[in-house]
Amino acid sequence: MAREAVYQQTAPDDPGDVPPKVPLSGGSSGEQEPNDRDGELRPRRLDEMVGQRDVIERLKIAIDAARGRGEPLGHILFDGPPGLGKTTFATVIPAEMGTTVQMANGAGLSAPKDLLPYLTNVSERSVLFIDEIHRVPKAVEEYLYTAMEDFRIDIVLGEGVNARTLNFELQPFTLIGATTRAGMLSAPLRDRFQIREHLGWYTEDQLCELVIRNARKLKIQTDQPAASEIARRSRSTPRLANNRLHWVRDYAQIKAKGNVTIGVARDALDMIGIDRLGLDKQDRNYLQTLIRVFQGGPSGLEAIAHTMNVSSDTLEDEVEPFLLRSELIVRTRRGRLATNKGFEHMKMQPPAA
Ligand SMILES: Nc1ncnc2c1ncn2[C@@H]1O[C@H](COP(=O)(O)OP(=O)(O)OP(=O)(O)O)[C@@H](O)[C@H]1O
Ligand SMILES: [Mg+2]
Repeated sequence: MAREAVYQQTAPDDPGDVPPKVPLSGGSSGEQEPNDRDGELRPRRLDEMVGQRDVIERLKIAIDAARGRGEPLGHILFDGPPGLGKTTFATVIPAEMGTTVQMANGAGLSAPKDLLPYLTNVSERSVLFIDEIHRVPKAVEEYLYTAMEDFRIDIVLGEGVNARTLNFELQPFTLIGATTRAGMLSAPLRDRFQIREHLGWYTEDQLCELVIRNARKLKIQTDQPAASEIARRSRSTPRLANNRLHWVRDYAQIKAKGNVTIGVARDALDMIGIDRLGLDKQDRNYLQTLIRVFQGGPSGLEAIAHTMNVSSDTLEDEVEPFLLRSELIVRTRRGRLATNKGFEHMKMQPPAA
């Protein structure tokens, strides 16, 4: 295949294809992810983030080094469960670098033509963020390989003997990928990220700090015990802590003259079915089914799902991880089993051994 001259393409042909560029350096209001209701609470700089100290420390070194050399930051992959800060990091890092970010989603990049406007639109040292990067199909992924490695994309025009490759040079940029399913990424793609960070659960103290900071931002009158109560019921997850805080604020405004005490926080969260361990109605329904119908197990997932009339995928992805992490159930080869802690939490007697 013949190689043609190197092109420097600065913008896609059709201006309608140009994805939005979000300026981050000036602290403008365009910093939020589209459809992000939590935007007012999303940190804008690394120093505003709570927890993840080791991740932040490593990122600061990489950012300072890249800035010092005047080079783009190496490509970064964030993985971890929902709501722990992947998108937040992806918006904070460009702000720290003093550059812009384009936001894309793996689910929206179904063909190479969907990716090209983003790639040809990157400016020097800017960031392209691809959320849910595990959903990028193989045909599109292959374009990312040369884009990430050589800042180049090769487009094949025509077929057979008439095929020609157009070679576009891209501005050196940083790709930030985020995924909840790191295991689904192909090795060639995974290995092209120079920096890989796994985001883990937050401690209760870290979430308490988050609640106190955000209560201040939302001008909520509260105290340490109330913040701890909200943190304790937030399943180690910042997004849930913020959601709970928003609800508690509404509740307090209507029922308690806006004053969030520990009693008010408890009443507000009880009212929406969030219990003292942070379990919601569906979680308790699962435990109840396992204990009452299956005498605590072992029981197969499908049997529990049928009894509850929900899909087994929902249970496996959304309900069981937290119950397992809280040691309320265990998974054995013979099926799911409620632990003594699980029985106690539901105020039931475990069967005699
Ligand atoms: N370290 C943190 N410090 C302060 N707030 C945080 C932190 N991490 C997350 N948050 C808050 O939690 C919200 C959810 O985080 P974010 O959207 O970054 O999660 P995510 O990992 O991208 O989740 P998903 O997998 O669902 O996309 C953010 O809007 C932000 O307000
Ligand atoms: Mg996200």
